[in-house]
Amino acid sequence: MARDLTKTRALFERAKQVIPYGVNSNFRYWGDEETLVATRGEGAYIWDADGNRYIDYRLAFGPIILGHAYPAVVERVAEAIRDGTTFAWTTPLEVQVAERIVRMTGVDQVRLSNTGTEATMHALRIARAYTGRERFIKFEGQYHGMYDYVLFTTAGTPASALGSRRNPINVQMSSGIPEGIRRYVINLPFNDVERLEETVEARWHELAAIIVEPLLGNAAGILPRPGWLEKIRELCDRYGIVLIFDEVKTGFRIANGGAQEYFGVRADLVTYAKAMGNGFPIAAIGGRREVMATVEPGRVSHGGSGADATLEVLETQPIIKTIFRRGRQLMEGIHEILTRADIPHAMTGLPPIFSFILGTDEEPVDFRGYIQGDEDLYEALVMALIERGVMPDADGREPWFLCYSHNEEVIADTLTAFEDAVREVKSKS
Ligand SMILES: Cc1ncc(COP(=O)(O)O)c(C=O)c1O
Repeated sequence: MARDLTKTRALFERAKQVIPYGVNSNFRYWGDEETLVATRGEGAYIWDADGNRYIDYRLAFGPIILGHAYPAVVERVAEAIRDGTTFAWTTPLEVQVAERIVRMTGVDQVRLSNTGTEATMHALRIARAYTGRERFIKFEGQYHGMYDYVLFTTAGTPASALGSRRNPINVQMSSGIPEGIRRYVINLPFNDVERLEETVEARWHELAAIIVEPLLGNAAGILPRPGWLEKIRELCDRYGIVLIFDEVKTGFRIANGGAQEYFGVRADLVTYAKAMGNGFPIAAIGGRREVMATVEPGRVSHGGSGADATLEVLETQPIIKTIFRRGRQLMEGIHEILTRADIPHAMTGLPPIFSFILGTDEEPVDFRGYIQGDEDLYEALVMALIERGVMPDADGREPWFLCYSHNEEVIADTLTAFEDAVREVKSKS
């Protein structure tokens, strides 16, 4: 029997009167019938306005690393805001959070801000100020936030618009971006050493930065091939280019020290956000002291106490190790069910941030490979899962996120629903 969504739809109708498309971020709009209104979250679950419960694998696009409304975090924030929230002065809390980040990630210094968008925007500016150059390289399928410079060839780009691999087209992802901005960004295919070397050797004198999501967190979690990140590091060193790791999705998720620790490659600047606050608005730019010295004054919000509590839990308990174990169980279970059902597929990403593509056995190494998959089948499967109370994003580019509250029982329930959803989708195809 289909879910009752009467109250959800009524609220969404009200939302549409006063909020364009009824959402405060276009990523939340799934169409008039499917867009939900969420009322509550606890641990691994969220509820819609009709009281339907879902095991949540979207986790607000990644921030929830411990669980929704995780008591240790909620209590710390509630206590902290009684003493006021922002003072235009440094606070002891900021010092403590910065010390924690330095200790956990190995960066020399950090500046705190509110969102991932701000963090990557400032990181690019610092790189320009440091090098005196203006252009930068990013990779196809990467998303770095909602500002003009980086909104080219993100994960929503249609295959037909990408241009040739030899000479990729910068595909503008929104109206309203000044035409001239296009000239500052160079998009290249991820994991393509030859193309990267050619470009850097020809254009290094214009290049302030290479900004890279160490794994493609906005394109199914596609992994770097062995040697890829090391190659980027080597080219940046050789040509005086600032290497920026955008760890907004991988930071405090795939290791306490993020992708730098997991893959063993260090960047000059690193951006963090999402998991560092378990859902409270907090972000950071960290990096080498010499590069950070060019920083312009930043800003901090009361997200600080959320980060303080979240990072303390991560630093003192085996959280990420546990998430890896459960995520691995879930990935293996999904792989087995799809194999038994004879559905060609390839698993992508790492257990705390994974996805899979359907319709091909070939593991994608870049965004061009990813979009060869059967996105319609993926979406049909997700919609069948949501009917059964399991909620990954309907867009397979957005990975499945795991948090500490996804316990053994939740994983088992997910796999039961998955098996059932696969059966339904197969019977309809
Ligand atoms: C890799 C990456 N960088 C930056 C951002 C922007 O972060 P925010 O939404 O906090 O502005 C995102 C958001 O999803 C992201 O995935």
